[in-house]
Amino acid sequence: MDVFNQFINHTSVRNFTGEPLSDNLKAQLIQVAQSGASSNFVQAYSIIEIKDPQKLATIEEIAGAPNYITKTGVFYLFVADLYKHQQLLEQAELSNHALTTMEPFIVSVVDTTIAAQNMVAYAESQGLGICYIGGIRNDLSAIAKLVSLPKLTFPLFGLTIGYPESRNDVKVRLPQSAILSTDHYQPLTKQLVDQYNQTTAAYYAQRGSNQQETNWQTKMTAFFREPRRPDVADFMKRQGFTGDFNL
Ligand SMILES: Cc1cc2nc3c(=O)[nH]c(=O)nc-3n(C[C@H](O)[C@H](O)[C@H](O)COP(=O)(O)O)c2cc1C
Repeated sequence: MDVFNQFINHTSVRNFTGEPLSDNLKAQLIQVAQSGASSNFVQAYSIIEIKDPQKLATIEEIAGAPNYITKTGVFYLFVADLYKHQQLLEQAELSNHALTTMEPFIVSVVDTTIAAQNMVAYAESQGLGICYIGGIRNDLSAIAKLVSLPKLTFPLFGLTIGYPESRNDVKVRLPQSAILSTDHYQPLTKQLVDQYNQTTAAYYAQRGSNQQETNWQTKMTAFFREPRRPDVADFMKRQGFTGDFNL
């Protein structure tokens, strides 16, 4: 498949053969992840491969991801990481205060995500399937304990990668006019929302598995009706990201 078609045919895979990835392929995945751009070259992330079957089972339980973490090719935990920079500051006998503020936190989240998406793009080019696992944030404290995370780190998401047993249908994205504008911000129009609701209703009604009577707007309003994972802010503070959060 050419590169363009590979990108536009992305779908998350939640059903793998369970065949492990070779060490060579895993090394390549890490190398492409590390080759992504990094804000001011801070490289503010860690990637933890979870091999221990018990830990995989615990993560699967926390994330509510039946079988696609324990039966996969490899599972990585992506951690926004400013602890390494704290170590550098400590060696220079300097305060870590700057690291505890909002801006470096955002930098570390962006760096981590770029690394992960580089890995995803390469994995998919090799015929592998992937699924991000934000469900790890259902119990941040348990995840932090499971892999002994120090302060100034934040487990953002997991990434399960393997040989697909089956693939879902491609989900039609918002029309370009909903996300692309020129010279000024363009809010959604009712016409655009109605049109996309029809498109997504047809997708959910007709897809190969887990058919539903719903549409994008219904899903989004249900999703954002109440605050989600309200313990995230407390967890961040406990991890030492306290500086600007209280302003
Ligand atoms: C950061 C992130 C976290 C996600 N977390 C989960 C998850 O915990 N479980 C899951 O089944 N899918 C998860 N997904 C997959 C999304 O549900 C999926 O990307 C979205 O529905 C679009 O479908 P597609 O990837 O098949 O195009 C996550 C995706 C992203 C980007």
